[in-house]
Amino acid sequence: MNQLDSNREQWNSRIGFILAAMGSAVGLGNIWRFSYVTGENGGAAFLVIYLLCILAIGIPVVLAEFTIGKKAQSDVVGSFEKLAPGKPWIVAGIMGVASAFIILSFYGVVAGWTVKYFFSYLTGGFTVQDSSEYVGIFVGFISSPFQPLLWQFIFMSMTIGIVYLGVKKGIEASNKILMPSLAILVIILAGYSLSLGGASEAFSFLFTPDWSALKEPKVYLAALGQAFFSLSLGMGALITYGGYLSKKEKLPGAAVSVAGLDTLFALVAGLMIFPAVFAFGISPDEGAGLAFITLPSIFEQMAFGTLFGLLFFLLLAAAALSSAVSLLEVAVAYFIRKFTWSRKKASIIVGSIIFLMGVPSSLGQGIWSNIRFFDNDILDSMDFIASNILLPLGGLIIALFMGWGWKKSDALEASDFGDSALGHAWIFTLRFIAPIAIFIIFLASTGIIKFE
Ligand code: PFF
Repeated sequence: MNQLDSNREQWNSRIGFILAAMGSAVGLGNIWRFSYVTGENGGAAFLVIYLLCILAIGIPVVLAEFTIGKKAQSDVVGSFEKLAPGKPWIVAGIMGVASAFIILSFYGVVAGWTVKYFFSYLTGGFTVQDSSEYVGIFVGFISSPFQPLLWQFIFMSMTIGIVYLGVKKGIEASNKILMPSLAILVIILAGYSLSLGGASEAFSFLFTPDWSALKEPKVYLAALGQAFFSLSLGMGALITYGGYLSKKEKLPGAAVSVAGLDTLFALVAGLMIFPAVFAFGISPDEGAGLAFITLPSIFEQMAFGTLFGLLFFLLLAAAALSSAVSLLEVAVAYFIRKFTWSRKKASIIVGSIIFLMGVPSSLGQGIWSNIRFFDNDILDSMDFIASNILLPLGGLIIALFMGWGWKKSDALEASDFGDSALGHAWIFTLRFIAPIAIFIIFLASTGIIKFE
């Protein structure tokens, strides 16, 4: 081991690693993205496909990423270079760094909106006569040319600040407090939201599948993309975090905990958002503003609503921050090794470039809203390319790499499964089930094959 390797940063503890991985997974994806994507794709039937994607593809690939990271002890590109020198698997690493740039560029914009909502509650909340006004408030804010950029800038500065400080102190410590608090708050709000009168409609929307929704090919790709996005999967965030693990961790348990908690979070968030959607007569396919419109409507009805609003957006912004940190860390870890930059230099330069890349996504909500690709605005297009194409493709390559590129016994040992039945099932899934499922979903989305 050379000097550099022995100086690599490491997590303080196993639980620290699990919390950081959860911090990466739980974020805007569970609340903002999950609710509007579920709403746009028909609810329960989408949810079934989403859960299948988590089980059959998500969890096995999470474990593959952890295993690769722990074994290689490097950034996402370096991991493939180290484990398979000169082989083409490295494209997954390069795509991973590219995805980090693309995702964080628009993630910073939406996270900026949450910071702005937090400040609005801090200064007394919104004054409205009727909850229908929240649509206008939201649209007015995101379409202004300057305001959202300011909040995006503030959020990105915080993200850069944490990555600049390093792994242990910033990320590991903060998640220990943050995750449980956010979970408690989401449960309270779900309970309240369910009492508002939209509960039965919300339940049937979320849990009574209308299978005809599955005739739409876009539903499968949306579910697959949401599973990858929410689990922080397919771009090496979990490889990078696994790279800070010491050699003796039990990975399968960690993978199941992270994926299980992430999914639970999304489901409870659904129970928070959808009852309010129906209670206030909002359409579930309202789009990217869904959470920003329903949540203030809930707070409006509650005793101490301003306080709840304040707390909620504080925690959501903080959850977004721990996810954003993991996105930036993927790129920064790569630049530190590749160009021998200091952590400080890499965080500032890479973070600033990503901020600038996000500017069009922000302006696309207002003055540049006429720029569209297949009827999507700039933010949605960035999201589509990264989440629905790059991440699943990255996941496909990672599954094939672990399943076929490694000796089976090495993979079983490195994953901590050992020679067990579950371990063999895991390899089988990586070799066949996950790649074939991803491939079929890609084909279906192009319309080449149809499910009817
Ligand atoms: N999983 C995060 C969320 O649900 O908000 C988003 C994300 C973080 C995606 C890190 C990808 C990633 F590498």
